Amino acid sequence: MFRLICIAIGYCIGCIQTAFIMGKLCKTDLSKKGSGNLGTTNALRVLGFKAGAVTFIGDILKGVVSFIIARWLFPDMGILAGIYACAGTILGHDFPFYLHFKGGKGIAATIGLVLCIGFTESMPLMLISFIIGIVAVALSGYISLGSMLFSIAIPVCAFFFQLPLEGALVLTALTILALWKHRANIGRLRAGNENKFTLTKKV
Ligand code: G3P
Repeated sequence: MFRLICIAIGYCIGCIQTAFIMGKLCKTDLSKKGSGNLGTTNALRVLGFKAGAVTFIGDILKGVVSFIIARWLFPDMGILAGIYACAGTILGHDFPFYLHFKGGKGIAATIGLVLCIGFTESMPLMLISFIIGIVAVALSGYISLGSMLFSIAIPVCAFFFQLPLEGALVLTALTILALWKHRANIGRLRAGNENKFTLTKKV
């Protein structure tokens, strides 16, 4: 039962779609501009640095807040409560009911989850997954590639550093979801026409 409660709380928090709100404030429909994704990268691309930064921080906070609330509500469940809550947050972010279930790809919320795992359970998991993501973006220039490699590193580290098995399995499911959400990016990467990382407006 605690699993469902955590997922439901996380889903409600995840539905606060920062990129959508920033788009509304800037009078721009982000779902129709750039990649059409309601996330940090597209906010940065279409709305500029400030809106991108607010979206990034807002989405990270969604993961952190969900994790903290779940751990506070279910202290005996350990990290599992936080992982389920963040899974709900990512589902809410990716599939907000009031936007016809079309949201973002959940990477910033996942960063929030990984920060919480790092400071409560496994610092190596946090450091390794962040370093892999950042190095991949720095070397390739593609945020999508860095996001996917970051996502893949999380469950690999979770198994390697022996997080509770159920938690590692949920993290694996979240990675599969993140890769599926990046299917258009994978197509563009293969075709050689993926958008390069930029800190300024491009659209
Ligand atoms: O986290 C999203 C990022 O990996 C890709 O975003 O807008 O280029 O599809 P976008």
